[in-house]
Amino acid sequence: MQIEGKIAVVTGGASGIGRALAMEFVARGAAGVVVADLDGEWAQKVAERIGGLAVQCDVGEPGAIESLVAAARARYGRVDIFCSNAGYSDPVGVGLDESMEAFERLTRVNMLAHVAAAKAVVPEMVERGGGYLLQTLSSAALISGPAAPGYTFTKFGALGFAEWMAVNYGAKGVRVSCLCPNVVYTGMFGRPKDLDAVAVPPAVGALGEVLLPEDVAVTVADAMEGPEPFLILPHPRVGESYRRKADDYEGWILRTRERLARMQAG
Ligand SMILES: NC(=O)c1ccc[n+]([C@@H]2O[C@H](COP(=O)([O-])OP(=O)(O)OC[C@H]3O[C@@H](n4cnc5c(N)ncnc54)[C@H](O)[C@@H]3O)[C@@H](O)[C@H]2O)c1
Repeated sequence: MQIEGKIAVVTGGASGIGRALAMEFVARGAAGVVVADLDGEWAQKVAERIGGLAVQCDVGEPGAIESLVAAARARYGRVDIFCSNAGYSDPVGVGLDESMEAFERLTRVNMLAHVAAAKAVVPEMVERGGGYLLQTLSSAALISGPAAPGYTFTKFGALGFAEWMAVNYGAKGVRVSCLCPNVVYTGMFGRPKDLDAVAVPPAVGALGEVLLPEDVAVTVADAMEGPEPFLILPHPRVGESYRRKADDYEGWILRTRERLARMQAG
């Protein structure tokens, strides 16, 4: 799909990967971009910069995605690309002590928001002959490791939904991609919202190969404009780990358990 001339909605568009995607879409000639975020003030600042529409919304609330799509259609007439990007993690280290209410909220934001988005935009995409769903998931959707449990199972669940969508709607012209990065220097890792290009602080750099969201957005847009990519993996080693896991699931669990124990021992 060529991004030029398209109308895109990006949730979590006020910061990090979402903001970078919104800006990259405009740079590639998108005809309209909706910046949706819990943080209305920063959604507005990003929308002003790119000449888009800001919508304050909580994608975990019932009806929020439907209202967002209605606002996008009222302004631009249609939605060609829906990026379900908003997401967050339960705190690492809390594990099973996290409350069920917190897991339920995480499920609404990280998983069910993707379902609500598909319900809101896909029927019209099919009628018009096509559209694009981009889900920002995580390497944690493919391989569990140090990430928190709620983050892991919600990202896995969202991957399952995306796979189902790709299998059932691909022939109807709806393309589905899942962005599964490892570490990206965004608000999740303390990047301030108001800085455009910043050096990765040493404490974040120590986490391994750390990418900037602006570079991830270029990778994503290139992939969207290329042959149908289901998984978009800006860190190639995520794909290698995923293949190793598929080849020997039990051995992979054993090795990951040992690696985590070494990490936790310092
Ligand atoms: N940064 C990473 O290393 C990394 C790695 C893998 C996946 N991800 C995923 O990338 C996505 C974007 O995160 P980011 O890293 O850019 O972080 P970020 O904190 O910079 O941006 C996330 C944005 O989403 C918004 N948001 C959070 N909950 C929301 C809700 N309920 N409704 C609407 N907006 C909401 C926040 O206000 C924020 O502006 C997330 O889904 C995250 O899980 C990030």
